[in-house]
Amino acid sequence: MVKASKALDRVLVLEMVRVTEAAAIAASKLIGRGDEKAADHAAVEAMRAAFNDLEFDGTVVIGEGERDEAPMLYIGEKVGCAIGTGPKIDIALDPLEGTTITAKAGPNALAVLAIAEEGGLLNAPDVYMDKIAIGPGFAPGLVSLRRTPTENVHALAAAKGVKPDEIIACVLDRPRHEKLIAELRAIGCGIMLIPDGDVAGVIAVTNPDTTIDIYMGSGGAPEGVLAAAALRCVGGQFEGRLLFRNDDERARAHRWGITDLDRIYKLEDLVKGDAIFAATGVTDGSLLDGVKRRKNCMTTESVVMRASSGTVRWVKGEHHPERH
Ligand code: FBP
Repeated sequence: MVKASKALDRVLVLEMVRVTEAAAIAASKLIGRGDEKAADHAAVEAMRAAFNDLEFDGTVVIGEGERDEAPMLYIGEKVGCAIGTGPKIDIALDPLEGTTITAKAGPNALAVLAIAEEGGLLNAPDVYMDKIAIGPGFAPGLVSLRRTPTENVHALAAAKGVKPDEIIACVLDRPRHEKLIAELRAIGCGIMLIPDGDVAGVIAVTNPDTTIDIYMGSGGAPEGVLAAAALRCVGGQFEGRLLFRNDDERARAHRWGITDLDRIYKLEDLVKGDAIFAATGVTDGSLLDGVKRRKNCMTTESVVMRASSGTVRWVKGEHHPERH
């Protein structure tokens, strides 16, 4: 694991859980209601309100979209109640990672965020990112986007002392992954196809209980930065390469100061220095249980991690809204 400076106030660790809890609780009212937009909106509003209670000078660097696209938590929006006076914090957030999952009551929807010192997070444009991730404990560079899926699975299998057909890959179930899936199946690899939610999919490689050995395929670049923040804290390897479908997306990258469009980003290129990653389950998943709403009480499960210390805290919350 990369050692990082302890620049972020440790008090922020538990504060971040409050923020993701608020978003998850708000979104949970809309689980299974078939309305992605309403679920996302509820999470966004709650996350923004929770941020604005905190004594820092926060800037959203990965958010709900550019200013003209998103009314709240847009890229560049200032949050916190100590703007100009408090510590300067950059924030990557996804108040509801898995809007469709939530609408359909599927698995692995999360409220998620990462914070770092000013300038510590890649300002990733909202384009796709090709991703590859494995858990901790392997030689650096064991897998890479520079190699074919077959080569990567063979290298990982050899390092684990197993056959390639004992490796399980997690891949988003999308037509664009047809070729990747066919190649992996041809070498006997097991594939866990997920409908959505690749932040949880990438993090799953760090947890042996999931049985997922490797994450491959493309998903959102913002989600790539969020997952990278978690891996910076718990260890593991990740590479990401931005994918551009048209000139508009390339122009977007230029506006964000990205000039090398083919660059392969490693963990430390995506998230530098100290960082905190926090997530609360909205629906049950491989990382966290979802919000359970009972009469007069709601329960949440969250995880919060810090890069500089490597500490991982699992936080169970009981919430009594009628007492607020
Ligand atoms: P949303 O929460 O914005 O719906 O994102 C869900 C998600 O599955 C992400 O986890 C993933 O990175 C991205 O969508 C993949 O995009 P697409 O659905 O276009 O393949």
